[in-house]
Amino acid sequence: MINDKKVLFSGMQATGNLTLGNYLGALKNWITLSDEYECFYSVVDMHSITVRQDPATLRKRARNLLTLYISAGLDPEKNCIYYQSHVSGHAELAWILNCFTYMGELNRMTQFKDKAAKHADNINAGLFTYPVLMAADILLYQTDVVPVGIDQMQHLELTRNIAERFNNIYGDVFTVPEAYIGKVGAKIMSLQDPTKKMSKSDENPNGSIYLMDDADTVMRKCKRAVTDSEGCIRYTDEQPGLKNLINIYCACSGKTADEAVKEFEGQGYGVFKEAVGESVNAILQPLQAKMKELEKEKGYIDKIIKENAEKAQYYANKTLRKVQKKVGFPERPRI
Ligand code: TRP
Repeated sequence: MINDKKVLFSGMQATGNLTLGNYLGALKNWITLSDEYECFYSVVDMHSITVRQDPATLRKRARNLLTLYISAGLDPEKNCIYYQSHVSGHAELAWILNCFTYMGELNRMTQFKDKAAKHADNINAGLFTYPVLMAADILLYQTDVVPVGIDQMQHLELTRNIAERFNNIYGDVFTVPEAYIGKVGAKIMSLQDPTKKMSKSDENPNGSIYLMDDADTVMRKCKRAVTDSEGCIRYTDEQPGLKNLINIYCACSGKTADEAVKEFEGQGYGVFKEAVGESVNAILQPLQAKMKELEKEKGYIDKIIKENAEKAQYYANKTLRKVQKKVGFPERPRI
């Protein structure tokens, strides 16, 4: 607990271009949580170097992501928005937790298997221990809840196991975190293949709407979205492309699927697709404008970065000192 509130932690990587799926599925929901929880939202740049990155690009993308968090409506006075690499406790705790994690456990991680297959020329130890760093992120702040997508559930489960294992040996050191299952974020699928999740690493750029796509591009992608030959607007699993478009439309406009179906009853897909494009642009255009505005306020962003890193460091060190003591490291002299 911090300030009588439960603690929430989540993070995103600054690799790839964020998509509408990332926004509607995650970021948008984060905003509603900051009253109820003490929130830490990290730009997890240390995770990003498990695959090769161009340094200048990584730095730029990390800054963009941090700016995006704020542009999307996360108040940086209320939420701790910071770079993972600015708080040394992440790496320090990760090392200790490495010694409480088994090779066999890490070998079972499906994301490791996928990434190892994709980056066969660079299967580094960091890629293997990635979930331990993620456990450190979470446990460092005595986190109660973690909003994560289904693809990260296995990592969260591992985090819980590591925390319990540690607590069994040393007493109650870590809060054992739960997945945050609140109002589920819309699961947005690829516009070109509605059986696949919309992804920032999709090879076909027409499958994803990127948060920085201009209005014309958004409209073009919506119009080209794969549908079916039924020619009838319904919300059913038999028409997965259309269902996905309805989900997007509803997430952007705040309407329900029933309302959307009624609204476009008897109309062609073309008309509906145009409405989807407009609803997306109604979200993305103001978001992009806010990004541009904030990018100019360099001093303000720098101040946020510094203050929030200090805040994160403070809470991180509290946990870290406790853990270091438990495992038998000598007391630190004041330096
Ligand atoms: N591994 C997560 C992802 O790729 C990002 C992440 C890192 C994270 N540390 C975290 C998410 C801690 C939640 C909590 O999406």
